[in-house]
Amino acid sequence: DIYHNGMFRNKLLRVSTDASRLEEQAKKHLGVHSGNYLFGGAGELATQDANRAAFKRWQLIPRPMVDTSKRSLGVTLFGQKYASPLIQAPIGVQSIFHQDGEKGLAEACSELGVPFVLSTAASSTIEEVASASGDGPRWFQLYWPNDDEITLSILRRAQESKYSVLVVTLDTWSAGWRPLDLDLGYLPLLNGVGDQIGFSDPVFRSKFRKMHNIEVEDNIQLASREWLRIVLSGSPQSWERISFLKKHWPGPVVVKGIQHPDDAKLAVKAGCDGVIVSNHGGRQLDGAVGSLQMLPAIVDAVGKETSVLFDSGTRTGADILKAFCLGAKAVLIGRPTIYGYAVAGKQGAQEVLMGLLADLDRSMSMSGIIDLQDCDRSSLVANE
Ligand code: FNR
Repeated sequence: DIYHNGMFRNKLLRVSTDASRLEEQAKKHLGVHSGNYLFGGAGELATQDANRAAFKRWQLIPRPMVDTSKRSLGVTLFGQKYASPLIQAPIGVQSIFHQDGEKGLAEACSELGVPFVLSTAASSTIEEVASASGDGPRWFQLYWPNDDEITLSILRRAQESKYSVLVVTLDTWSAGWRPLDLDLGYLPLLNGVGDQIGFSDPVFRSKFRKMHNIEVEDNIQLASREWLRIVLSGSPQSWERISFLKKHWPGPVVVKGIQHPDDAKLAVKAGCDGVIVSNHGGRQLDGAVGSLQMLPAIVDAVGKETSVLFDSGTRTGADILKAFCLGAKAVLIGRPTIYGYAVAGKQGAQEVLMGLLADLDRSMSMSGIIDLQDCDRSSLVANE
């Protein structure tokens, strides 16, 4: 049926099922600032290219005669079962992509059982997004403030709003060198959006009031600068300090932005429950290795006991399957869902996620894989 119908052409779907066409569609729905911010990356985009090239280095081996009529796409992470092997990656200030912001996307994910990771740089509050996500799975991503009182306040709020996993992003102590954004500046983008996690945080607000004798709302630009100084402090926390987060967060703590096997080992030694192999979608260090290229070495370094999750550059069902075969326990999707969201709101985002799941399901079937948990490297060959 789906081939007879011409899903996109005949408007049964609002978004294209093809990744590059979807990107073109999204471009038409976004202004120059939000578009550059979303599509762009560090430097000359060499890392974004490397992310795609890393997928093409691996090829799946079809197994046509395996009975794969009963397939399972569910995963278990940190002792919890999830119906979806995909997770919505944390993406900042979503209200610049669609008026419903994080609330709309959290609701879209919740309806599909896809865990939604809320960014510290969000345009809605922790509490609002929790309420929109309802009973759906939700995780919280921390840009680790250089002020412990603010960190504790954010952790407390996320915990009270039932975010189950803490994702600590380690690759963004300062923003990457992103020429398009540097040329235009972030201010036009952020005007009127506000960073609701920062600006709604009672500890941040009270510190700001004491320091400047005004409320956050009285000078949003100044508040925005102070907030960025606290969350993008320019200097990393240490591995030893992971114990501080472990002490104050009762659930799993996962670090995001790991590319070196030695860092993965250090993360486990520091007490992390999992690592996310990611280069921030090529937005931080230009000229860096493709994220997927580092996945096997990281899985080997930390062993099967540690949950290794993956993102950066994933665009198709086959990509997702390759990541699983190389040892990923779940895959985070970044830009593609946002493209769908920009084009057609909640429905667009859901169509992208469902399209990826359906493509993955077909790829599993043709590769003779019944259960994602059984994937291993025997389904792949390296294209040297
Ligand atoms: C991001 N990413 C990100 N990561 C994070 O930990 N906190 C954040 O606030 C953001 N914000 C953000 C904004 C935008 C516009 C993009 C495109 C990305 C990185 C994101 O979580 C993820 O690592 C990448 O998007 C994955 O790469 P792909 O799937 O976009 O190629």
